[in-house]
Amino acid sequence: MTDTTEATLYQRLGEGDGIAAVVDNMYRLILGDETLAPYFAGTRMVDQKRHMALFLAAAAGGPDGYKGLDMKAAHAGRGITDADFDRVIGHAAAALADAGVDEETIGQVAGALMPLRPEVTTAG
Ligand code: HEM
Repeated sequence: MTDTTEATLYQRLGEGDGIAAVVDNMYRLILGDETLAPYFAGTRMVDQKRHMALFLAAAAGGPDGYKGLDMKAAHAGRGITDADFDRVIGHAAAALADAGVDEETIGQVAGALMPLRPEVTTAG
């Protein structure tokens, strides 16, 4: 069957390998963004990418291998703004588009991440 509505979001993102590639590209864009890069100055990016890939896989209906902090604890006290959040979502969308993910699927990923805004942001 080629009916894409039958595939889960996780499958349409290319499963674990597809998500890992998107996450790699996404953090390349984030670290290249001078507004966002300072947040990750003390971060071991190899671990961060792994955690993000596992988190996204679970959020997309794939296997739940994420063992990290919940989103509120992970971002508490970092002073992340609404504008920072929007920039990260923008880089995620760009990384997905670059990987050939279709617009509708990108919209679904963004829609799944948007509700996390109040847990991630702690500054206007
Ligand atoms: C929907 C949006 C976001 C998601 C799904 C997300 C996801 C995650 C995950 C899974 C972790 C790892 C937690 C752990 O290691 O236990 C993390 C940590 C972190 N996130 Fe986010 N995040 C988001 C938005 C943001 C934004 C907007 C910023 C700031 C620009 C940010 C900055 C950080 C930082 C600095 C860490 C800690 C890295 C470290 O351990 O050094 N995140 N995030």
